[in-house]
Amino acid sequence: MQLIDGKSLAKKVQTTVASEVEQLKQEKNIVPGLAVILIGDDPASHSYVKMKAKACENVGFYSITHNMPDTISQDEIIATIEMMNDNPRIDGILVQLPLPKHVDTDKILEVIDPQKDVDGFHAYNVGRLVSGLDSFVACTPLGVMKMFEAYKIDLEGKDVCVVGASNIVGKPMAALLLNANATVTITHIFTKDLKAHTSKADIVVVGVGVPGLIKEDMIKDGAIVIDIGINRIKDGSLVGDVDFENVSPKCSYITPVPGGVGPMTIAMLLSNTLKAAKGRV
Ligand code: GUN
Repeated sequence: MQLIDGKSLAKKVQTTVASEVEQLKQEKNIVPGLAVILIGDDPASHSYVKMKAKACENVGFYSITHNMPDTISQDEIIATIEMMNDNPRIDGILVQLPLPKHVDTDKILEVIDPQKDVDGFHAYNVGRLVSGLDSFVACTPLGVMKMFEAYKIDLEGKDVCVVGASNIVGKPMAALLLNANATVTITHIFTKDLKAHTSKADIVVVGVGVPGLIKEDMIKDGAIVIDIGINRIKDGSLVGDVDFENVSPKCSYITPVPGGVGPMTIAMLLSNTLKAAKGRV
């Protein structure tokens, strides 16, 4: 069993981004800029946004965080996004999800200029991804693809089971895997027999937010397991969606939590923001 070390891979990506930022500054006088919109006081969202802002600082980006109360109106959020769309110093706009219940998330995401959509959530970018065209791709699934590439894991013809069909993770993950010529099964909350699908797969990618969902008897010998779950349990520790202790001995490769996919998500946000800055017109 080999651990896929997301933490050290993310560091490598950050080093590359930082040196490209330096080059962009010197050659074109461009400093990549990211605007983060954070609404309400959800502790997990605050903690993620803090990590994102810190990572931006580390690679030499300009970054601003718009912190708004959860009583804010949808129109005010839209006005802020439009301001960022028009701001030439801003290359990437990220609206931290989830949004408060009174806000229509789909509507908000559609207001973001697709050229600044570094989260890859705008329907324009999702459509381009599904069509196999160049696009901004959601950071978490993009980070998983980067891991496959770094560990030379060939996807062509592999049976891959994606557990979870969210817009943020499962659906773009499945599209990327399909574009890489894998045979993809997407399972979700209404799937009748999850084990029947996971136990046949060469690769299982899970991101649903249920601690320990994937158990030893659901994985075949030598499988590759990618755990996207980040769950804080009662004792305060972070665990994934995979019962790591019992599943890991059966795997050829597995990602740990923490230190697996999580750091890659932030690294891909930096990489997407750099891509947006390079595309400045
Ligand atoms: N909430 C949970 N994951 C994400 C993410 O990748 N991007 C944004 N904007 N919000 C999230």
